[in-house]
Amino acid sequence: MTTPSPNTAPIAASTQDELKAQVGRAALAYVVPGQIVGVGTGSTVNKFIEALASMRDQIPGAVSSSLASTERLQALGIPVLDANEVESLAVYIDGADEIDGKGHMVKGGGAALTREKIVAALARQFVCIADASKQVEVLGRFPLPVEVIPMAAQRIARSFAALGGEATLRLKDGQPLVTDNGQHILDVRGLRITDPLGFESEVNQWPGVVTVGVFAHQRANVCLLASPAGVQTLL
Ligand code: 5RP
Repeated sequence: MTTPSPNTAPIAASTQDELKAQVGRAALAYVVPGQIVGVGTGSTVNKFIEALASMRDQIPGAVSSSLASTERLQALGIPVLDANEVESLAVYIDGADEIDGKGHMVKGGGAALTREKIVAALARQFVCIADASKQVEVLGRFPLPVEVIPMAAQRIARSFAALGGEATLRLKDGQPLVTDNGQHILDVRGLRITDPLGFESEVNQWPGVVTVGVFAHQRANVCLLASPAGVQTLL
């Protein structure tokens, strides 16, 4: 990671929830008045969405990466546009499960990785918001989410085993979790992803993989990282 930018402001914070709220508020500085904003998914983004309500009269609306975020945005009176209605976005703001020093991320803990990658691809700038626990040297500590077509799950699990990973099907209430796209999620433990770009390219072409949760081609351009010392701007 690079050194904090001069605008780093020390903010006392005691709980992880408060850290998420701080970094959610800090992300407002990247929302461009008059422009549609791309919105990610997760507990950190939920704090950003709460903060974004204060700017609802300054933006035409948002493109959302999940049904859950769409519901929250609409509940706060922020119009949600279909991704097909926009040609590009100035900025996409989302959390991460891991981020390395180059802005490569693991995402998908909230099962929204495919739509997150689609909205991120529309954006000229990806601003990652996270607490400092998400920062890693090498991706792979967090189980890697992979959205898969259900009939391909076992074959894909065997392909990960050949790379030294152990894939398990994500469950919800004892049943396979079904994503917003009607597919399943494999969580893969035991990987050490030293070449995120190459790894993402390779796994994404395996038959039945919808999206791998490595975001290297759509890496973060800015990372706002909250710690008890304040919100640091990295990258
Ligand atoms: C959802 C994601 C989230 O951004 C990621 O899981 C981080 O979530 P949180 O802010 O709750 O820690 O990728 O699919």
